[in-house]
Amino acid sequence: MTHKNPRFIRIFDTTLRDGEQTPGVSLTTEDKIEIARQLSKLGVDIIEAGFPSSSEGERRVVKEIAELNLNSKVCALSRCTKKDIDSALDCNVDLIHVFIPTSPVQMKYAVNMTPEQVLTSAVESIQYVKKHGVNCEFSPMDATRTEMPFLQQICKAAQDAGIDSLNIPDTVGCMIPRTTHKLFKELREIIKVPISAHCHNDFGLAVANSLAAIEAGADQVHTAINGLGERAGNAALEEVVTTLHVAYGYKTNINTRLLYSTSRMVVSLSGVSVQVNKAIVGENAFAHESGIHTRGVTEQPLTFEPISPELVGRTRKLVAGKLAGTRGIQAELNEIGIHPNEAQLTEIVKRVKNLGDKGKIVTDADLIALTSAVLGEVIGEEKIVDLCDMAVVTGIKVIPTASVRLALDGNEYVAAETGVGPVDAVLKAIQKLTSNLEKIRLSEYRLEAITGGSNAVAEVVIKVEDEKGNIVSARAAREDIVMASVEAMINGINKCLLKNRKQGKKQ
Ligand code: KIV
Ligand code: ZN
Repeated sequence: MTHKNPRFIRIFDTTLRDGEQTPGVSLTTEDKIEIARQLSKLGVDIIEAGFPSSSEGERRVVKEIAELNLNSKVCALSRCTKKDIDSALDCNVDLIHVFIPTSPVQMKYAVNMTPEQVLTSAVESIQYVKKHGVNCEFSPMDATRTEMPFLQQICKAAQDAGIDSLNIPDTVGCMIPRTTHKLFKELREIIKVPISAHCHNDFGLAVANSLAAIEAGADQVHTAINGLGERAGNAALEEVVTTLHVAYGYKTNINTRLLYSTSRMVVSLSGVSVQVNKAIVGENAFAHESGIHTRGVTEQPLTFEPISPELVGRTRKLVAGKLAGTRGIQAELNEIGIHPNEAQLTEIVKRVKNLGDKGKIVTDADLIALTSAVLGEVIGEEKIVDLCDMAVVTGIKVIPTASVRLALDGNEYVAAETGVGPVDAVLKAIQKLTSNLEKIRLSEYRLEAITGGSNAVAEVVIKVEDEKGNIVSARAAREDIVMASVEAMINGINKCLLKNRKQGKKQ
């Protein structure tokens, strides 16, 4: 579909703020910075980096992201209080997103304020932000359950106070596309500044409602990678953007070819996996198994595919196992925006071939997991800790035991440990040896099977912490869980030691 003058829709991504409010998700500073860099590469217009007043750590990370000079604008969330706004201002962000509840239930039970107090507080806060020369977006929280006359009154007052954009949150995801369209149409008639939609997915309608808002005249949408967010999440960026480009013929600044690698990065760092049948980024979204489908797509992909997988940075699952040769793999990776150096590429190819030799079909998800593990590794001469050898024993009547031989700064040492299982034993043995250099402990361990089957590639994501409380994350992907765990641990320890030694030299 081609359109003469396609509409442009601005993408405001809240993976690092609402997305981080997903139950169970907690990102380190390092994780947030890695995701922010990727979001900027992806082409999001605005990154909502966090809620500075929520903690000192959060304030520091929002400030660090603002100082990265990314292509995307950086935004901080703030309640309508001077203390919150000062904390956001201190981060030197491009934009401050102020919000206050406006629905009867939230005004009474969440903040215990009258509508008059809410209105005054919103106006004063917007004026305070603008007085500091910073752009301001305003959200009447729970807008979709707010009485319409009050919603109109506060939106107009916010506009008069100088907002640069108005965001309408469907905070509890209670809208349907028809009511969303009606609401945005009515607001569009009285509001001149850009309007934005922030839809939650409580009924699985966040994407549909965001699109309805755009149809009614919204200029911007709030999204999160993989649909992360409070409760059932926010509108998924990959779904909204692909639909806007393909079904509506609209434009955004998103490079859709980076959608899949971004999704995998967020899965890996957040620990929240996506369902296999999720649109665009789910494992099966471009997989064909039944005879008629596989024959059809082999002859003509359009038979059973609405879009080509490459458009969103993927490959058809049928062909994923037939990767051959270094250049073929390099081309596959470049296609989705990943550019390993020669040493990394050689390692990736070695691992892919290793799996192939064992008769395993390497899917695109496997390839990305292997690649991100290799890219995140400390390789070559930089390594302080290196694995020379290891052995594990486990069984019904045997206490799981592991012995490891490690090179620490070039000298070899051996240690053995027992544990509740082989992974526990081997990681304890590694920590026992490396404590000679520095006490670094495992603070988090996550295991994920990328594809089904007992020969699945397992991705291990860990966090290690040194005595000063610095946390570093690392990952590894192998079809052997114990090996993946060992590699991730050694990788994390190397990263931590290197960081500390570099800092030590600077001082
Ligand atoms: O869902 C919501 O209402 C929010 C606000 C902070 C905008 O996330
Ligand atoms: Zn929200």
